[in-house]
Amino acid sequence: MITGARAPRTTELAQGDAFARLCADRGLLFGGDYNPEQWPREVWQEDVALMERAGVTFVTVGVFSWSTLEPEPGAREWAWLDEVLDLLHGHGIAVDLATPTASPPPWLGILHPETLPVDRDGVRLAAGSRNQFAPSARAYRDAALRIATDLAERYAAHPAVRMWHVGNEFGQVDYGDEAARAFRAWLREKYGSIAALNEAWDTRVWSQGYRDFDDIVPPRRAPYLLNPAQTLDFHRFTSDELRECFREQRDAIRRAGATQPITTNLMGFFPLVDGWSWAGDLDVIADDQYPDPAVPDSPQKVALVQDLARSLGQGRPWLLMEQAASAVSWRPHNLPKSPARMRLDSLQAIARGADGVCFFQWRQARAGAERFHSAMLPHAGADTDAFRGVERLGADLARLRPVVGSRVDARVAILFDWQGWWAGSEPARPTMRHDTIEQLERWHGALWRRGIATDIVPPGADLSRYEVVLVSHSYVIEDDAADRLRRAAAAGARLVIGPFSGVADAHGAILTGRSPVPLRDLIGASGEEWVGLPDDGVALSFRPGEPVPTTARASILAERLRTDGAEVLATFAEGELAGRPAVTRNDRVWYLAAVVSEDVLAAVLDAALAGVSGAVPDPPQGLEAVRRGDALFLLNHGDAAADIEVPSGSEDLLTGQRTSRRATVAPGEAMVLIERRTT
Ligand code: GAL
Repeated sequence: MITGARAPRTTELAQGDAFARLCADRGLLFGGDYNPEQWPREVWQEDVALMERAGVTFVTVGVFSWSTLEPEPGAREWAWLDEVLDLLHGHGIAVDLATPTASPPPWLGILHPETLPVDRDGVRLAAGSRNQFAPSARAYRDAALRIATDLAERYAAHPAVRMWHVGNEFGQVDYGDEAARAFRAWLREKYGSIAALNEAWDTRVWSQGYRDFDDIVPPRRAPYLLNPAQTLDFHRFTSDELRECFREQRDAIRRAGATQPITTNLMGFFPLVDGWSWAGDLDVIADDQYPDPAVPDSPQKVALVQDLARSLGQGRPWLLMEQAASAVSWRPHNLPKSPARMRLDSLQAIARGADGVCFFQWRQARAGAERFHSAMLPHAGADTDAFRGVERLGADLARLRPVVGSRVDARVAILFDWQGWWAGSEPARPTMRHDTIEQLERWHGALWRRGIATDIVPPGADLSRYEVVLVSHSYVIEDDAADRLRRAAAAGARLVIGPFSGVADAHGAILTGRSPVPLRDLIGASGEEWVGLPDDGVALSFRPGEPVPTTARASILAERLRTDGAEVLATFAEGELAGRPAVTRNDRVWYLAAVVSEDVLAAVLDAALAGVSGAVPDPPQGLEAVRRGDALFLLNHGDAAADIEVPSGSEDLLTGQRTSRRATVAPGEAMVLIERRTT
């Protein structure tokens, strides 16, 4: 069921190479979504002139242009796009040409109401916004294929087009009759017989036994809690169905003779598509990232998303397809990003493996729902701090050309299972306060602060290259994933496993027996009950000789554990579980039987990470240090200058200056150091 890392197909490698060639040719890509159809022709001339001035090399065209290209069913209005592509090409700007299929024209819903999605309450969504398509509706799929095919046939050989972008942020979900039909077909294929489905979903509970696949509906609004197995399969179905939409258009583009890489923009830890199962279909991983400038730890959080983007591409360079130049307009209250912050965020993506940095969007919209969303070129024009910031970034990216194609080498991995996340997010658990992504962020954050490069790996991935493997929370651990963990430990890797892992099977049903069933031999301990902890948590006490964190506590969730061979490093000091093991160690495997406070997590990770070096030793607070290929990126997200020791004779690619043995990175500033031998 869950797709592990797999060897890329030959065609994937070939098209991946096309992305590598593009970047080798153009340097780090720099640009954004460009929507010239929203502006009169005179503006286009100013656009390309300013793009050139800012060093823009790459723009995504046509994402929301369906009704402009096809104002009437079957009509084709290519002239404007011909002109735009020629104009961009004439100015040396490469184009990522989008199929406009994320936003069908209103006529499609009028002619084919079944193409409009239905929400879980049975409400059919109207045109007037965007994304109003039902992924399973044949009439939508056919209309999307027709426009994508014609677009590709017309422009596959256009010299401006260097990449294809299918749709936009696939994430539409439909609970209507079209989805119901397709869901049934998907279930029939998966289970073969209704008896097998009834067994897998255990429909005896609450009298849900189905006579036939035709009785099944998507998890629509029901009187009370839904069957979690049904919801889980619907998640899988939705992800697969959207992927089919992507694949159909991608294949049409290829059939039209396109040789450029084809991708779509993912959205980090987005719940509606399983990134692991999609990754092999994209020639380059493209990701949209909108860290909130109001959230102090957003640099840490976005670092995790960037590591995911790199890991989805098995370490190959990825593309930051969208970010905001300043404020977004979709949060209830939108704080701006300073130009310095925008630059630092962009350099952070490069540090963590991106070979390009793009924005939504080039020119700030005058009208429409996103009229207040920032852009590279704001309403006020080029004589602005924001545009000067964009020019500065363009110049920086040009200087960073030597990093193109280089990789981040990680010796630490964190397991993340998309489908387990779905299963573990269903309601009616011991606590709803335990959140997979929050825990992942905490654990990854501990590594981020230490400057330790980390890959995110799917269950079943080959772990042989890692010295340390972390499982912050993985609700479902199937046999292949458990075997990989066991083999990694046997081969000498150190493992740290967090609570509430290996709880359920692939249908979300609880594994019976002492917990965690698939891991208890590995951890040398086993539990018998999951308990929510009181709001203020409980104290832990460490055995003599252990480094004792000062405020050692556990909160949210704990396990009533006993050891079966493991050493007890800490016990619960009070409450229901007083005296029971809270932190254990079984040779190379640490186990946390509760959500522990930061200091406890840090102490355990320190022990497990012994000997794994960060990009620099002990980075000062706020300094992000990442080694990518030969380059050492130092990004100061903090408020104080960061002074660290660096190899003397390093050159800062951003300034061309040589450093002595120490480097000082001012707050909000960055350095990208390459060691230069002085001979
Ligand atoms: C993205 C989307 C863009 C734009 C942007 C605004 O989700 O792909 O088209 O809407 O958000 O932040």
